[in-house]
Amino acid sequence: MATKKLEVTLSGRLDTTNTAEWFEKVSALIRDQSAEELVIDCEGLEYISSTGLRALITVVKSGCRVHCFGVSPTVYDIFEVTGLNTLMDVQKAFRRIHLDDSALIAKGTVGMIYRLDEDRVVKVFNQKVTIDIIRRERKYAQKVLLSGIPTVISYDIVQVDDCYGIIFEMAGAEEFSRKLDRTPGMFDELAARYAGLLKQINQTPVGKGDLPEAKEIYHGYVDASSAFLSGAEKEALHGLIDSVPDRDTMLHGDYHANNVMYREDELMLIDLGDVSRGHPIFDLAGMYVSHILVGSYQPAFIKAGMGIDTDVCRRLWDRVLRLYFPDETEIGLKRKEDLIRRFAHLKLAIMYAIAPGLENYLTWKPLEDARAVLFPGLEALKADLEKDDLC
Ligand SMILES: Nc1ncnc2c1ncn2[C@@H]1O[C@H](COP(=O)(O)OP(=O)(O)O)[C@@H](O)[C@H]1O
Ligand SMILES: [Mg+2]
Repeated sequence: MATKKLEVTLSGRLDTTNTAEWFEKVSALIRDQSAEELVIDCEGLEYISSTGLRALITVVKSGCRVHCFGVSPTVYDIFEVTGLNTLMDVQKAFRRIHLDDSALIAKGTVGMIYRLDEDRVVKVFNQKVTIDIIRRERKYAQKVLLSGIPTVISYDIVQVDDCYGIIFEMAGAEEFSRKLDRTPGMFDELAARYAGLLKQINQTPVGKGDLPEAKEIYHGYVDASSAFLSGAEKEALHGLIDSVPDRDTMLHGDYHANNVMYREDELMLIDLGDVSRGHPIFDLAGMYVSHILVGSYQPAFIKAGMGIDTDVCRRLWDRVLRLYFPDETEIGLKRKEDLIRRFAHLKLAIMYAIAPGLENYLTWKPLEDARAVLFPGLEALKADLEKDDLC
């Protein structure tokens, strides 16, 4: 159950002249609302004296958690030298930047990408994206970089008007999809790199708790699908997810030709908000959805979203499958593709929870198809997954 939060604002100074009055007011509110967390917007707070700090300590000691956000560098220093930041969650104010002269270079599904200078871009998230999600994307991006996978540096979170953004290293001027579209003669080489990068991700070890578990993420999407799925259907899908064997390796979560950039002969992975830990079938099935299934419903959506035609997408998928499983026979590949295809329908069944608004493009057909593929063959699919001989 969500904890009860009390949100207040602090501005100006909190010192001997006004702390007693502030503390009395806040304590009464905490009591009246039985609040378990006090969230303090400190954007306007210019100074806090030891009297102010003691008031915060008293709140913490009463058992109420305290979060201060928007803290200026001066006030942050006070929290740090006194060690108060060890008792409560203290978040610095974000630097504000203005994009007056910055060119818009790309539009993603959740954000707009502007070029800041020769080496850096800023991804400005739309207002629906919460700061927690943005922090998560930055944290994961750092972990992926540290794991040795070719990806960009993620710099600080900034405020851009009413939105937040993350500053990233410029990953090259061209998406993998565009490079593929522009230089068809390089198909073999590009496909090999694309498959190699996915395999590198899927073979990178991840410690327990370092990234979220893919199974937990999928359980969450099933739980969020009550508007589309019955209780019994949800139950069946939870069972399907549970039947996927556990793994301690990395998943990108949205591996497609616009989330890989081409730069001077190397590929760079971007868009790391969905990385997780788990069995490679989650990434392979995700690819099957974005490269094959979406195009089967809306060819134009693939071209508009990924910049390549459905037949190139199909060739790319076929090649990736062969390169991912280099020792497999033709029959073996068919079996693997069939397992991936069936499991991919799980993603179709929960698509509208994963990407709200997508129904406008895809209509409800994918959900119908997911039902037809998943439910009659559920036990067979679970048994095939539990065998764990995919990879
Ligand atoms: N670091 C970067 N360098 C260059 N281009 C980028 C960078 N990050 C994103 N882009 C461009 O912006 C597009 C959308 O960014 P992405 O992070 O994938 O956003 P979304 O989460 O909205 O899909 C990418 O497909 C790419 O064209
Ligand atoms: Mg993207």
